[in-house]
Amino acid sequence: MAEARENAEAKEDEMRLTEAEIAVHWKEEEYYHPTPKFIGQANLTDPAVSERFSEKNFPECFREYADMLTWDKYWTTTLDTSNAPFWKWFVGGKLNVCYNCVDRNLGKYANKAAILWASEDENEPIVALTYQELYVQVNEMAAVLRDFCGLKTGDRVTVHMPMVPQLPVTMLACARLGIIHSVVFGGFSGEACGTRIEDSKSHILITMDGYYRSGKLLDHKAAADIAVKKAESEGHKVEKVLIWRRFRDKSATSTPLVEGRDYIVDDLLKKYRGVIVPPVSMPAEAPLFLMYTSGSTGKPKGCQHSTGGYLAYVTGTSKYIQDIHTTDIYWCMADIGWITGHSYIVYGPLALAATSVMYEGVPTFPDAGRVWRIAERLGVNIFHTSPTSIRMLRKLGPDEPKKYHYDFKSMTTVGEPIEPEAWLWYYHVVGRGKAAITDTWWQTENGGFLCSTKPAMDAMKPGSTGPPVPGIFPVVYDENGKELPPGAGKAGNICIRNPWPGLFQTIWGDPDRFVKQYYVKYNKDPKSKDWRDWPYFAGDGATWAKDGYVRILGRVDDVINVAGHRLGTKELESACLTVPEIAEAAVVPIVDPERGRVPEVYVALKPGIKASDEIAQRVTLAIETTIGKIARPRAVRIVPDMPKTRSGKIMRRVLASISNRMDYGDITTLSNPEVVEQIRVQVQGAGPVKTEKGPEDIRRFGETT
Ligand code: PRX
Repeated sequence: MAEARENAEAKEDEMRLTEAEIAVHWKEEEYYHPTPKFIGQANLTDPAVSERFSEKNFPECFREYADMLTWDKYWTTTLDTSNAPFWKWFVGGKLNVCYNCVDRNLGKYANKAAILWASEDENEPIVALTYQELYVQVNEMAAVLRDFCGLKTGDRVTVHMPMVPQLPVTMLACARLGIIHSVVFGGFSGEACGTRIEDSKSHILITMDGYYRSGKLLDHKAAADIAVKKAESEGHKVEKVLIWRRFRDKSATSTPLVEGRDYIVDDLLKKYRGVIVPPVSMPAEAPLFLMYTSGSTGKPKGCQHSTGGYLAYVTGTSKYIQDIHTTDIYWCMADIGWITGHSYIVYGPLALAATSVMYEGVPTFPDAGRVWRIAERLGVNIFHTSPTSIRMLRKLGPDEPKKYHYDFKSMTTVGEPIEPEAWLWYYHVVGRGKAAITDTWWQTENGGFLCSTKPAMDAMKPGSTGPPVPGIFPVVYDENGKELPPGAGKAGNICIRNPWPGLFQTIWGDPDRFVKQYYVKYNKDPKSKDWRDWPYFAGDGATWAKDGYVRILGRVDDVINVAGHRLGTKELESACLTVPEIAEAAVVPIVDPERGRVPEVYVALKPGIKASDEIAQRVTLAIETTIGKIARPRAVRIVPDMPKTRSGKIMRRVLASISNRMDYGDITTLSNPEVVEQIRVQVQGAGPVKTEKGPEDIRRFGETT
């Protein structure tokens, strides 16, 4: 009876609420302002930037970024749209990416650290690679690739490596020769790597024998054998496997070498000591690398990034948004195996002659103070990480940052929407209330930032990424293609109206999918050669506030459609986090015969807190009061931990499948697959695993591929 009455009430509420009201339930937060000290030293403070990068100056505005590079030959056409939507930037121009990131810095910065590396093992010394040393190592590796492997411009090489300095050395050696690298995240399995080898048709795989993860030395060479086998099973042969050694004086693997196929890089290098390989002058439009988006289901997509446009864009945004100076010690705690690491550990910072920090291991190993110890030890003053890491560091060591003497001038987040709760901890505790925060929204496909505050010029607003960055012109459409202007108070699909130099060129080997996935939805005329007719569909839900700030609600497939109303899961999760006991929250849709989908909530508690019905009830209440009864969850489940990918993203797809008693599919790439069964038994009881596939949106829920 009581339940029936509540349902009736909830339905009434639904009818009273308009979609516009729902979209603005996440209350607007107050602004936070950068300090005068930060503003005084920032790269970008000139108000004329808005005019310079205004639509009337598009596309020539991007000269400003391209002019930060050293060109062998200046370009003739800034943007060529003749083969829409395959845009071409800086056509006629020639340059070499490795030259721009290494050689040109030798004049002034040969003796300055390009890379500072921290092993996960705190007893190992810090490694500092000066620009001169990087130059030598990159040249020797380029000689191995050219002379030993016989590689040439346009060939593909797959790189499956952990976070060690040899990884950027390998990438830059490829770039020096115009070889297209495809770096596969080190934490991916051999099978996942094999699929990507096959797709890119790489004949060379570069890997490492082992590395540390959570205190264990992992045998990584074993993954190479699986990768080669997998590629072979798909009809593609790998000719050589090059293996870097984790330690100078001992092997980190017990997997034997395959005669005639496997080679230890350190041995090969001996033959090429001191060899200098001239950088190959590449057309701006030549592909620089492929980056596969994680393919937990379906075929992974190889996003193809360009040479000139990409480097110009990441250099410009590193300077203006990351505020990198040559004197900074900059730490982006991403993995180079993801786009963030390519753009904002390697290419952008090195093109600016910065010092870029790399850390091999798990941020909370051996304890929750590790990150702050590294920051203190190396003198890091710019810190860049993800909301997931922020939540994790907060959960495990809320007071740890206070114990260390680092001094951040600015901090960045990327990868997911950040809840104001977590943002405020980052700001007050990690940043001591003085570091400027940029919340940067973008994607693997984009090369660099799309939305973010300009750190010295715009106020910060917790939970909102910010306005578009210079030269980016977004539009938010509803499903029918109607524009929802800033202040419309409704959620829609965010698109970018214009091309920009960092945008990927195509999906490797699948141009049709490229057009279909990113352009068809809102294309105005398939024959048009005018960029205005080709908005780029980002696949994210967003609201655009009156002040011009964008709030990303998550993937379009992350949005729960309750009785025809769109509820961003992040809005619900943010509400859950206002309950002080909650450390992490994940909201998934469950199928409801009447209302379409209703949310179900999973929460993990802070250490030392005992689960209770009372906490679950307060979570429900928090959602009802922040969002409304329409968002009332079917259940709140307190779980020991969330299932997560190796990169730390919560696998909502798995939780959604458990909630819906569906087959949860492949979980082998998770960092903690064992927790899945625990949660399943908690939710479904100990009976047999269900094999029903269930509806598409649930099966793929939260997938960002
Ligand atoms: O949903 C958006 C979310 O991450 C997606 C892109 O994921 P990926 O290609 O793996 O690249 C991550 C790093 C660039 C986006 O479609 N996302 C990324 N950054 C943010 C974000 N969501 C909200 N706020 C962000 N700052």
